[in-house]
Amino acid sequence: MADTAIAGAVKAALAEVDIPGGGNLAAYAGLSEIIVTKSAVALAIAVQPGMEKAFGPAREAAIKAAERVAEGRKVMVSLTSDKAPPQAAPAAAARPVPQGKSPVPGVRNIIVVGSGKGGVGKSTVAANLALAFVAEGLKVGLLDADLYGPSVPKLLGIEGKPAIRDDGIFQPHAAYGLKAMSIGSMLVPGQAVVWRGPMATSALRQLLRETDWGGLDLLVVDLPPGTGDIQISLFQQAELAGAVIVSTPQDLALIDAQKAVDMIKRLNIPLLGLVENMSYFVAPDTGKRYDIFGHGGAAKAAEVFGMPFLGEVPLDMAIRETSDAGRPVVAAEPDSPKARAFRDIARELLRRNPALR
Ligand SMILES: Nc1ncnc2c1ncn2[C@@H]1O[C@H](COP(=O)(O)OP(=O)(O)OP(=O)(O)O)[C@@H](O)[C@H]1O
Ligand SMILES: [Mg+2]
Repeated sequence: MADTAIAGAVKAALAEVDIPGGGNLAAYAGLSEIIVTKSAVALAIAVQPGMEKAFGPAREAAIKAAERVAEGRKVMVSLTSDKAPPQAAPAAAARPVPQGKSPVPGVRNIIVVGSGKGGVGKSTVAANLALAFVAEGLKVGLLDADLYGPSVPKLLGIEGKPAIRDDGIFQPHAAYGLKAMSIGSMLVPGQAVVWRGPMATSALRQLLRETDWGGLDLLVVDLPPGTGDIQISLFQQAELAGAVIVSTPQDLALIDAQKAVDMIKRLNIPLLGLVENMSYFVAPDTGKRYDIFGHGGAAKAAEVFGMPFLGEVPLDMAIRETSDAGRPVVAAEPDSPKARAFRDIARELLRRNPALR
């Protein structure tokens, strides 16, 4: 069936699901649109605050009903009580952290890679750092938490959708010794998913917790840029070993990095350190080095932020080209100077945090 036909079939199946107070789920005003991708069906049920428990059985029944017509797709149903409209980041960050953190099965430590600003090379750094940890002998996973702009499938050259076990658990992709999960591998090229806040956070929860990670030392999470709900929900639900912040050396990027640092401090996540990306440019023809963006800004900023400086990564066309080709430089040219930059950063992180080994 085409995706739109599946959406129709799911809606029809939901008509069989009773809801508290009478009526059926398909006719319920709090039912979201039904998102269908290559390998997933996602929908949300919005309920009045306090009604979450009462709707629990309806959620379970909705999953079963949707699974019958989903043709093997993973069904993600979130139950949300939207007390307030989506909040701006600072207000959201100021919310108290609920005591709901629980370990992720099969994962010993989780580190997140974030930035204040988009496009600073977070995903590039996350993927190459993850590969550098593999080179250090760790069992490593990479989770793409950028649901709005997933880039891990392209970075790692992953094709196809993840397998789903009979019990509904994702089997992660394997690439260059990494286990990887991304919502991107469940979309057809060009398909954009307009997540509503609560749906995105529950999709992330399922990617994180309903994946068979199978005994990782370290899970590296590539965050979306900024300080939004996805970050906050992740920080609140999982115990994190810490956060690595990526910035370019420009003042403006560093001002944004400060915002990310502030949020992480407020949420009591350990700050593992700052990485300066696109730090300097080495001319491919002459090998001459140019500090085009004012190299060194991040090292100074790290001092101001009161966090370790982990190292710098040059601006290098080969880094972009290998990423675009799905062969990140640490896997493609592990002994090149640019790969060494990532490997040195990984080693520095492990040196400072021996418990991550
Ligand atoms: N050190 C580098 N040298 C050259 N190109 C780089 C470097 N780091 C990243 N890039 C390129 O810059 C672009 C943005 O990088 P990337 O996607 O990793 O950033 P991001 O911070 O994850 O972006 P977004 O905010 O969209 O998630 C990509 O085309 C990437 O290949
Ligand atoms: Mg990214």
